[in-house]
Amino acid sequence: MNPIHPALAALATAAREMPYEDCAGALRAALKAPAWLRPEHRVGDPKGYMRHVLYVDADGNFVITAITWLPGQVSPAHGHRVWCAYGIAEGELTEEQFRESYGELISLGSKVYRAGEIADRDRDCKTIHRVANRSRGTIVSLHVYGVSADRLTTGINRVFAYDGR
Ligand SMILES: [Fe+2]
Repeated sequence: MNPIHPALAALATAAREMPYEDCAGALRAALKAPAWLRPEHRVGDPKGYMRHVLYVDADGNFVITAITWLPGQVSPAHGHRVWCAYGIAEGELTEEQFRESYGELISLGSKVYRAGEIADRDRDCKTIHRVANRSRGTIVSLHVYGVSADRLTTGINRVFAYDGR
């Protein structure tokens, strides 16, 4: 998938050259000036949150995606099999984090993130979270995952059973 949108080039460089280091600066810049965001990223899918692939690393080391969240859409509670980082380009997103205790998830509380903010970076695959749109507007979030494109749908999330609201 080439060429990359210029507004994502620095983020791709950071992900390529220092995947386990701090790519927060490049992520924040891409969130604050989201020229990469296209009108279809605001449309979403009523059946569930919708992933848009923005860039695929040619060596299979990472993928940059946008995710569209319509009001009320919630991810499953999940951990990660690969490193990842994400933030908010538009809207107001709620993230709840958990810890695991004897196979059960215990909530560590929720936080609201707004456009331009980094929500979470999970370099060591330790975060367990659930991401939700509890607002009345659409959210577009921007994600970097240390995964190859062919493993995008199955290689990232480790889903937990959790029936909390
Ligand atoms: Fe996640």
